[in-house]
Amino acid sequence: MALSWQYEAPDEAETTAGKLSSAELIEALKAAGDPTRLRLLMLCRRCELSVSELTWIIGQSQPRVSRHLKVLCDAGLLNRYAEGTWVMYRLALQGGVAPLGRLIDELLDVEEGETSEILERLEEVRNRRRAVAQSYFSRNAEHWSEMTRLQVSEREVETALHAILGWGRLGDMLDLGTGTGRLLAILAGRAETAIGVDINSEMLGVARQAIDRPDFEHVQVRQADIRRLPYGKASFDLITAHQVLHYLDDPDVVVREAARVLRPGGRLVIADLLPHDMEQLKTEQAHRRLGFSDEEIESWFETAGLETGESVKLSGRPLPVGIWSAVKPGNQGKQGQ
Ligand SMILES: C[S@@+](CC[C@H](N)C(=O)[O-])C[C@H]1O[C@@H](n2cnc3c(N)ncnc32)[C@H](O)[C@@H]1O
Repeated sequence: MALSWQYEAPDEAETTAGKLSSAELIEALKAAGDPTRLRLLMLCRRCELSVSELTWIIGQSQPRVSRHLKVLCDAGLLNRYAEGTWVMYRLALQGGVAPLGRLIDELLDVEEGETSEILERLEEVRNRRRAVAQSYFSRNAEHWSEMTRLQVSEREVETALHAILGWGRLGDMLDLGTGTGRLLAILAGRAETAIGVDINSEMLGVARQAIDRPDFEHVQVRQADIRRLPYGKASFDLITAHQVLHYLDDPDVVVREAARVLRPGGRLVIADLLPHDMEQLKTEQAHRRLGFSDEEIESWFETAGLETGESVKLSGRPLPVGIWSAVKPGNQGKQGQ
């Protein structure tokens, strides 16, 4: 699958909050001081949207909408992300001017005639997205139900995951191969920020539905190859990889990449199949590996400079599941604070 890359270097404006100079504040106020841009802020707080979706909702030409978006991004009120050939926009949640974007949205009367019409059009976009995600689900339903039948129950895996993670805060979390976004839905409530990455844009459409909740403003999904993560080193406190490594020829690369972007004290938790002999899963379900042994996973942890932690085995017929955890040596990360 073609994946166009845009490296998301850690952005200072995203990571540091604090006082603004009067020039910065004036630029942000000017940027927001326009009827179309107010609406763009309001829309991008509710949902991550592409230029073409925004153009359709706002009802202006694409070049005009793009110009307004640029002004808002330059002022730090919006963030833009590449996803394949698309560019997505969302309200900046961190950085000096981020509180201004939220405040504007909170002050804006959404019952006002034109604003409420715009929100109705946003709902249409969301409904269309749901329909696309649903059709992807239906096309793959057979595959998913077959895997569910063969494996340990989701509930059992979740219980074991919670036992390994404990019940504290999780800090900044990254879910590798997020798929349906299930792990985000389960864990992101305890995270400061949570990002799910997946290489498949249709899966991202499904995951977006799982995180389209008012209490998940801090949660996002991004298109990325987990063998080459678009994040700087020491960016996360918790990284999860649930049922994804067996699709890769080189899962050890993913473990090294996870170790790079983990903060000292941060944790990597892998849940995947234990060694099995269902050879047909390679041809029928594109599995590249027939499960993993403790020795294999632990050797990857060691090579990546991680310390092996707790692990659990869950017996399933015919596919048992293992959960392995590792810690990056060094100071405690944000999780558990
Ligand atoms: C079986 S699904 C698991 C999804 C999710 N983790 C869960 O347990 O519900 C595997 C996911 O890994 C994704 N994937 C496979 N190879 C990938 C890669 N190199 N980079 C990112 N995602 C990948 C697939 O697109 C798919 O969504």
